[in-house]
Amino acid sequence: MKREYQKPRIRPHIEGPMNKFGSPTGSHKDSIDGIKVDTLIKEFGSPLFVFSERAIREKYRQAVGDFSHKYSQVQFSWSYKTNYLDAICRIFHQEGSWAEVVSLFEYEKALKLGVPGDKIIFNGPYKPYEALKLAVKMQSKINVDNMEEIFNLEKLATEISKPIDLGIRVNLDAGIYPAWTRFGFNLENKAAYSAVAKMHSTGKLRLRGLHCHLGTFILEPKAYKTAIQKLALFAKKLRDDFAIKIEYIDIGGGFPSTNTLHTQYLPGSQTNPGIDKFAEMISEELLVRTDCFSSPPLLILETGRALIDEAGYLISSVVGTKRLTDGTQSLTLDAGVNLLFTSTWYKYNITPAQPHSDFLENTVIFGPLCMNIDIVRPLIQFPALSPGEQVVIHPVGAYNVTQWMQFIQYRPAIVLIDEQGKTHQIRAKENLEYMTMLESIPEHLQEKKQNSKTKKK
Ligand SMILES: Cc1ncc(COP(=O)(O)O)c(C=O)c1O
Repeated sequence: MKREYQKPRIRPHIEGPMNKFGSPTGSHKDSIDGIKVDTLIKEFGSPLFVFSERAIREKYRQAVGDFSHKYSQVQFSWSYKTNYLDAICRIFHQEGSWAEVVSLFEYEKALKLGVPGDKIIFNGPYKPYEALKLAVKMQSKINVDNMEEIFNLEKLATEISKPIDLGIRVNLDAGIYPAWTRFGFNLENKAAYSAVAKMHSTGKLRLRGLHCHLGTFILEPKAYKTAIQKLALFAKKLRDDFAIKIEYIDIGGGFPSTNTLHTQYLPGSQTNPGIDKFAEMISEELLVRTDCFSSPPLLILETGRALIDEAGYLISSVVGTKRLTDGTQSLTLDAGVNLLFTSTWYKYNITPAQPHSDFLENTVIFGPLCMNIDIVRPLIQFPALSPGEQVVIHPVGAYNVTQWMQFIQYRPAIVLIDEQGKTHQIRAKENLEYMTMLESIPEHLQEKKQNSKTKKK
């Protein structure tokens, strides 16, 4: 059979990445906070999540400073969903942060960690009646999301024969699209106003706070200025119409980390405006709008990813190398999208942990899953690594260890490096016993022990 003719192709060898950012050739990362990658994986295995306590505390103090220099009544509230490892939450609470939770599970975790009830903010679109009851009893700050919650809280107020203080989540147009309109009550179409009017009408609920979370990875500080302005004017209207005194403005989270989105041309470290810019916009607008409030409101921030992303690393080992059919180099790692949920959005920095050749070429980095979509980086300029060598993936501290999935693999250990450079395992590697502890086999499926007489010949 005559074979179809294909034109020959000449492909250039790329000696290092030829782009305007210059060459990262030769760079490798063989330690985290002074601890060798080799030592870490010898002791705790691979893959391995590693968190730097020093980085967490430094970032937190910097962020608090950025705000409190400009507006005196500021309170951070740690967004549990971003990373609810006990040890990580403890660091934030030790630094003075409250807890922001969005489910009964998170609420119970905060209580178990010793957070006083009145320092827990309860958000989210689903707060079961029992959870609301607990939060009311503990005097937590509940930000209602929908009418059902308002009805349930009215019912609770009747049950306990006293009014309940609460906040309301408001969504609004701050120029960020698509706007997150599914949470809370819309400001522009007056749904928020009607909800407050309803609350006010029975005298059972007392509105104390306005909450708004614009979205996440917001690169435009001015959006927060718009949001504060709209919330302040709303507070004024509520004071004028219902004599409601707003005591706190909770502006949610949403500040970006220095990660790079797949859609971004420039690296995240260059596009991130910095928390100080957000602090400037928010604080200045609040100060301008003080006449909208009876007294200056407490400013609450539920910043998540911007405080923790950079403190988290994932060490992963190369377990296979392959040339794809088009000749592209590929590497298979022992960590994939199962551990890096956020790889859908981010081009992480992936750095070899050992010195390597200067010759870089287009490379696809796969994870270990038996799933075609398990791609950590669809394209990166990378040297040829060998099985048994490691890479360090960074920043991975936000949302990965809460959104990771247990699909065909045990989830790895997590280690914290303290400020003295000592390592602590803060979550053990999963094992078969842990994975099956909630399962049971019905009686009729139990393996029967056959006695020797009934055994078939
Ligand atoms: C209500 C609320 N607060 C805070 C956060 C934390 O957001 P981020 O990690 O973007 O700061 C989220 C995350 O989506 C949220 O939904």
